[in-house]
Amino acid sequence: MNRREFLQFLGVSGVLATLPGCSTQSSPIANPLPHLAPFTEDKLVTVDGLDYKILIRWGDQINATQKFGYNNDFIAFHPLTSDRGILWVNHEYVTPRFIRGEERTKAHVDEELLEVGGSLLEVKLQDGQWSVVKDSKYNRRLDANTKIPFAWDQKIAGSSFGIGTMGNCAGGYTPWGTVLTAEENYDMFWGDRNKKGETIQKSWLEWDKFYPRPPEHYGWIVEVEPLTGKAKKLVSLGRCAHECAAVTKAKNGKIVAYTGDDSAYEHLYKFVSDSSDSLEKGKLYVANLEKGQWISLKREDHPVLMKNFKNQTEIQVFTREAAKLVGATPLDRPEDIEFDPLTGNVLVTLTNNKARQNYHGSILKIMEDHNDPGSLTFKHDTFLPGGTEHGFACPDNMVFDPKGNLWFTTDISGGDANKGHYEGFGNNGLFVFLRSGANKGEVIRIASAPVDAEFTGPCFSPDYKTLFLSVQHPGEYSESLSKLSSHWPDGGKPKPAVVTITGPLLDKIVSGKV
Ligand code: FEO
Ligand code: CA
Ligand code: CA
Ligand code: CA
Repeated sequence: MNRREFLQFLGVSGVLATLPGCSTQSSPIANPLPHLAPFTEDKLVTVDGLDYKILIRWGDQINATQKFGYNNDFIAFHPLTSDRGILWVNHEYVTPRFIRGEERTKAHVDEELLEVGGSLLEVKLQDGQWSVVKDSKYNRRLDANTKIPFAWDQKIAGSSFGIGTMGNCAGGYTPWGTVLTAEENYDMFWGDRNKKGETIQKSWLEWDKFYPRPPEHYGWIVEVEPLTGKAKKLVSLGRCAHECAAVTKAKNGKIVAYTGDDSAYEHLYKFVSDSSDSLEKGKLYVANLEKGQWISLKREDHPVLMKNFKNQTEIQVFTREAAKLVGATPLDRPEDIEFDPLTGNVLVTLTNNKARQNYHGSILKIMEDHNDPGSLTFKHDTFLPGGTEHGFACPDNMVFDPKGNLWFTTDISGGDANKGHYEGFGNNGLFVFLRSGANKGEVIRIASAPVDAEFTGPCFSPDYKTLFLSVQHPGEYSESLSKLSSHWPDGGKPKPAVVTITGPLLDKIVSGKV
């Protein structure tokens, strides 16, 4: 039985798959860790040595008037004291049948507007377990009705503010303690148009039918103050299907933010700030991998941009069009970005690109020259390929622990799980790539998501004893409400939820004792 057949066998063998110590590795290793085999049932399963608890689920009341939104994604932890903090949680999009129904009336859309954006929640630690402080003064929602100014000195599509934030996928956290939330697939709500004003994408949620808002007001990185909920849209970082924004410092102390445009053949961007404590002013660049260069998107730096754009604001709004004119490299859907604490390299998940037969994706490594995020030249290589060799497909969100182990989630999307190119990979999972010790180089599946769900937003508590994790869109591809593919977590209608993962295995891995 080769490895692929073995994985397939395990994938349909639920009982065997859950046995602690059941390894998908073909060669014996010293000091073996428990592995979780690919799993296909409608359960959240963790490997032996880990446990999960639900922190909050869709629809839970967070204060007297507001509820936790739908499709939780990115999570950021803003510490208050050693046992208190504020969690920011993205709410990316809605699946109408689970909200009010698929019919497109104003009443349906009005309800959906409240389900997206983000939640701020106070959390407290008691007896090793984090829980939400209900009715905390910090608990609040941002949604599709929240008025948010543009941090830019020109108006955007005729306005100095946008109404609402949505499509909030992944994000980032700044050294000055603010959260960045990325508006990714804004076109599903508002459609999209090009610089000439021609429709290039219709909205499938049809919110624009009742609220004709300019699509140019969305597709931004939004900066949020956790203590107040005050927000601004960072025009400086350009507009696209931003997956995330990963922030670090250049050697000269200036802030640098990396952001990927998660769409097939789109690009990787880098913003170099003029300052060490703000993302509002600076220069945006786009990656050319073949030349190993970050190419400026400043209008005055390129005759072709001078010719095609009337001012810098137009470049910020139609960033994709500008990027293509200056030779940006088309990529296979850049998703999350993290900085490798062992090497300083910038890692970017390239989740997949079915159009060019890249089904399993990979993790790209950008090595900035002089190891300086401020550098305008770099080298690149594959850090870790997806596929049968490592037992995962379609890497998406990532987080490092202090020992440099890379924890990442997968997103086999579109109802493709366990079929065709994804046969044998099981449901989406949480994996860890070990960087030291007897198991160095191993990729271990440590949790498996319910049917149709993906794990998103992995985020450690400051003491690395808890991993917060979103469980997004369980049951999304159900045939109907009466024929649900998932009943997670409570039985009945499936509900996205945030869970906490704890246990001795987590403690062992993050302290490098494996
Ligand atoms: Fe919302 Fe690219 O994942
Ligand atoms: Ca993602
Ligand atoms: Ca991340
Ligand atoms: Ca994805």
